[in-house]
Amino acid sequence: MTDQDRPANETALQNALIEALPEPVLVISPARRIAAANAPARSLFPAIKGDDLLPHILRAPDVLDAIGRVLAGGAAEVASWHERVPVERLFDVHVAPLLTSGRARFVVLTLRDLTIARRVERMRVDFIANASHELRTPLASLLGFVETLQGAAKDDAIARERFLVIMRDQGRRMARLIDDLLSLSHIEQQQHLRPKADVDVVEVTRHCIDALTPMAQENRVTLRLEAPESLVVAGDRDELVRVAENLIENAIKYGAGEAESAVDIRLEATGATARLAVRDYGPGIAPEHLPRLTERFYRVDAGQSRAKGGTGLGLALVKHIVARHRGRLRIVSEPGQGAEFAVEIPLQNA
Ligand SMILES: Nc1ncnc2c1ncn2[C@@H]1O[C@H](COP(=O)(O)OP(=O)(O)O)[C@@H](O)[C@H]1O
Ligand SMILES: [Mg+2]
Repeated sequence: MTDQDRPANETALQNALIEALPEPVLVISPARRIAAANAPARSLFPAIKGDDLLPHILRAPDVLDAIGRVLAGGAAEVASWHERVPVERLFDVHVAPLLTSGRARFVVLTLRDLTIARRVERMRVDFIANASHELRTPLASLLGFVETLQGAAKDDAIARERFLVIMRDQGRRMARLIDDLLSLSHIEQQQHLRPKADVDVVEVTRHCIDALTPMAQENRVTLRLEAPESLVVAGDRDELVRVAENLIENAIKYGAGEAESAVDIRLEATGATARLAVRDYGPGIAPEHLPRLTERFYRVDAGQSRAKGGTGLGLALVKHIVARHRGRLRIVSEPGQGAEFAVEIPLQNA
C-alpha cells in the first residue's frame, strides 16, 4: 500500500465507507452515542444533531437490548424495529460489533427496510384468499344443486329446469372470474411494454355501446355519446375495448335507479391525450371508497356487485391497462351526485 492508498485516519475511512452504503447505517459508541450516521440514516432520523444518545433517537427496546449484548462482547445479531407513527414501517436492524485498532468496541447498525416487501407479501396472501373465496361460493352452490338433482329432485322435471338455470349462472360466474384473473395476470406481465398499434378510441367506444345497448335497455338507461369523427391513440384494441366496456357497464349497473336514467359518454382530445369520460347520474360513491375502487376485489357493496354479475376485478383491469398505455384514470364522485370515470391515453404520434 502506498501513502496515497492510506486514508488520513481511521475515522475518515470509516465515515467514507458508511457514506458509500445505500442503506441507513449508524455507528454507536460504547456510551451508546451516535458516532457516525450516513445520509440515508440522517434522513430516516431527522432528529440526529451530533453525537446524540441513541435511545433518544430510536425507541426500539429490542434493538437497544441487542446493542447492549454486542457491546458486552456478544456476536452480531438481527433485531426487528416496528414503527407505527407517522406511517407504519418495518425494519430489520443488523447489530454488529466494530473492532477498531486500539479502541473500545463500537457497534454498527445497518437497517433494512422491509415495509414494501411485507406489504407485497400481504397483498399476495390477501389476493389468493379473495380469489379462492370468490370461486368457492359458486362452486359450493353448483355442488349443492348437483346433489339435490341426484337425490331429492331426481324425478322433479320442473325443479330440474330451475336448478339447471341457476347452475349455468354459477358456472358462468366462475368462468368470468377466471377470465378476469387471467387477463389481469397477462396485462401485469406486459405492464412494461407500451402497446403501439393505431387504435381509434371512438370506434372502440361505439363498438362497446352497441354491445351494451341491450343491457342498458333492460336497466332503462339511455347511452348518450358525444364524440369527434375519430381519435387515434397508441394502444392495444382488445385492452381498450375492456376499458370502455367496464366503465360503461359499471355506469349502467351502478348508476341506474328506479326511474329512467342516462349515461353520458364523452370523447375528446385534450392536448396530447384522448379523453374518454363516462358519467352516470346514480347514487355516486362515498369519498372513503374512492381511493380503493381499483384494488382487486374491492367493492362498495359486494352483494350488489355479485348480484349484477360483477367480479370486483373490472376497475383493477382498467387501472392496469391504462397504466400500460401510459395513461391515467380519474374518478370524480360525490354521494347523490353520480360518478364520472375518465381515462386519458396519449394520442398516437403526439
Ligand atoms: N359508476 C359507478 N357508480 C357507483 N359505484 C361504482 C361505479 N363504478 C364502480 N362502482 C363501484 O366500484 C366497485 C368495483 O367496480 P369493478 O372493479 O368494476 O367491479 P364489479 O363491477 O365487478 O363489482 C363496484 O362493485 C361498485 O361498488
Ligand atoms: Mg365492473
